[in-house]
Amino acid sequence: MSVDLEKILRPVESPMAPYEPKYMMLASGEPVVVRQVFRDEIPDLLKHVEPLIHVERDYYDVVAARVYAELIGYYTHRFQDQYVLALQVDGELAAIVNGRQVTPKLGLSLHTLALRRGLRIGAHGFAAKMEYHIDALGHDEVLIVAESPIGFRRWMIEYKLEKRFDIPHELGGVPSWALTRELFDRARASLVVGRRPVPPELLEKAMEKILPPSDPPTPPLDPLAATRALYDPTATALVAQRWEMEKGAQDA
Ligand SMILES: CC(C)(COP(=O)(O)OP(=O)(O)OC[C@H]1O[C@@H](n2cnc3c(N)ncnc32)[C@H](O)[C@@H]1OP(=O)(O)O)[C@@H](O)C(=O)NCCC(=O)NCCS
Repeated sequence: MSVDLEKILRPVESPMAPYEPKYMMLASGEPVVVRQVFRDEIPDLLKHVEPLIHVERDYYDVVAARVYAELIGYYTHRFQDQYVLALQVDGELAAIVNGRQVTPKLGLSLHTLALRRGLRIGAHGFAAKMEYHIDALGHDEVLIVAESPIGFRRWMIEYKLEKRFDIPHELGGVPSWALTRELFDRARASLVVGRRPVPPELLEKAMEKILPPSDPPTPPLDPLAATRALYDPTATALVAQRWEMEKGAQDA
């Protein structure tokens, strides 16, 4: 008996409304377009996520490794009900956000990854995905976690998220937080920006090609910079590590 294994391995996708693109002006005066990325474009994202796996600073490494796996999972039909949005400035990739639908009333935020820093592009991306969950997909609640202190400030503090510590989040099983419809409505005026429709020339530029980020985060030249992310501002761990190495060399 022959079995079509692919039919078993491939999850059946739930119907999900498409994301309607929007745009907003950054503090730099540049417009940024937020739009959905579909399966065939995923390889164009992967090549810009991979280098970030080697950036320890601000937890880019763990977030990029997870995003990379999620994107391949989506591309190869090995992920249930995922969506991916890209933020582009003049075609250049500036941020990636993704998430998934758990049930028709419950959403789950996967990741937010800023490839251009200092302009709240990540924050705009996060707001766009919350808007997608609540307004377009009709979710009552979105489960969220933060992997980095910057993420915690941006999501838990700015949106005043509620604790759902009895629910292990799909990202590492850590306790969840939740954005409810009520919290989102309270944040609308201050945190959620953007206009629709996107002017045709802006949208065409974004849809034409995902261009490489011009100034992505890179690994620090000085390894001491990485200690910030490990709550080791005095670099004690690094110094201790060096002493161990020196001791080993003397013993040899
Ligand atoms: C979390 C994240 C999406 C936020 O993106 P963002 O809103 O565009 O914000 P930035 O990262 O540019 O800036 C955040 C802070 O870092 C600092 N910062 C700005 N530019 C920076 C730069 N070039 N390098 C380092 N830090 C910078 C700023 O002080 C800013 O402080 P603020 O909160 O007072 O504005 C982004 O930091 C990121 O992708 N981090 C790595 C992955 C991650 O942690 N994702 C979220 C998981 S919960």
